[in-house]
Amino acid sequence: MQYRQLGSSGLRVSTITLGTMGFGGTGWASPIGHLDVDAARRQVDMARDAGVNLIDTADVYSSGLSEEILGKALGSSRDEVLIATKVRGEMGDRPNDAGLSRHHIVEAAEASLRRLGTDHIDLYQVHEWDGQTPLEETLRALDDLVRSGKVRYIGASNYTGWQLMKALWASDKQHLERFVSQQIYYSLQARDAESELVPVSIDQGLGILVWSPIAGGLLSGKYRRGQDAPAGTRRFEGWTEPPVHDEDRLYATIDELVAIGEAHDVFAARVALAYTLAKPAVTSVIVGARTEEQLADNLAAADLVLSTEELARLDAVSLEPLRYPHWHQLGASDRIGPATRALLEPHLG
Ligand SMILES: NC(=O)c1ccc[n+]([C@@H]2O[C@H](COP(=O)([O-])OP(=O)(O)OC[C@H]3O[C@@H](n4cnc5c(N)ncnc54)[C@H](OP(=O)(O)O)[C@@H]3O)[C@@H](O)[C@H]2O)c1
Repeated sequence: MQYRQLGSSGLRVSTITLGTMGFGGTGWASPIGHLDVDAARRQVDMARDAGVNLIDTADVYSSGLSEEILGKALGSSRDEVLIATKVRGEMGDRPNDAGLSRHHIVEAAEASLRRLGTDHIDLYQVHEWDGQTPLEETLRALDDLVRSGKVRYIGASNYTGWQLMKALWASDKQHLERFVSQQIYYSLQARDAESELVPVSIDQGLGILVWSPIAGGLLSGKYRRGQDAPAGTRRFEGWTEPPVHDEDRLYATIDELVAIGEAHDVFAARVALAYTLAKPAVTSVIVGARTEEQLADNLAAADLVLSTEELARLDAVSLEPLRYPHWHQLGASDRIGPATRALLEPHLG
């Protein structure tokens, strides 16, 4: 296993993070998996044996059950790993049971600590933007949690570029704790993150934790052109994230993943993970697994190194058209800076 610094922080995290959205698997998480404490403990042990030191959960995963199962699965090994969890989603019916108000953040952090059976959260992430709470209120509440020792680092998830930049600016201005990372969707299936989120990470020194790095299974090689989703998979169960806007590009990308996988004698999923790990600013990929076989396969991705030629083939087949103002900036390519180089260079003739 390799370890990378989480952005500009001093924290080192494994390039593979264990995801826990399938722990419990109730309510909206039902199509993802139904891991009970024993199955979760086996996954946690496998991940730890492979060198994984970061586990990601959220309060909203199965309405708190994922955190609870993770806490039990870790037991006395809690301090052997770093726990990342999240706040913002709806945890009850009362008016303040969601969002990023001081009220909800403090209440939700205490509840997460209780469910996880721990006295601190290593990385506390805001799960989504809250456009109705003043940003300073959110940042000050997070800062207080860090000062109290209940939270060690803070991160964002699913913010746009301007939202992230505004939050970093507000933290700096008020001398408050700064986000050290962002958790985002970024895969060969959709490279939208390259237009704003990856550049802001490079520019601002934020670590990137990638969620759904194999697009929830889409890039595993089991979904093929002209065929129905196989039974027992997330898509078969009606899960629709991430949305697919360009089926042609998706299936061409899968074909390339399968071909490169065959050359390495591995499945496509591992190639997709290795590709994302090779991208600028990416710190770690958060893998989810329904079965232990899937997890073993994904953990091995940490050791798969793709050649420059293979990375270029995958880049080419998954390339998306530049959106404005990037296509216009391409016309002034004499002054491309480090943050947008990875985005613009593939489009230069
Ligand atoms: N911040 C956020 O908003 C956000 C959103 C989503 C997820 N997350 C985090 O990211 C984690 C990972 O998300 P994800 O589960 O969507 O990630 P993913 O790795 O893209 O997809 C995992 C799914 O793909 C299939 N799969 C995994 N490995 C496979 C393999 N080797 N071969 C064949 N199929 C394989 C399995 O589904 P099937 O068996 O059904 O095919 C598995 O449940 C979550 O647990 C959570 O911690 C965060």
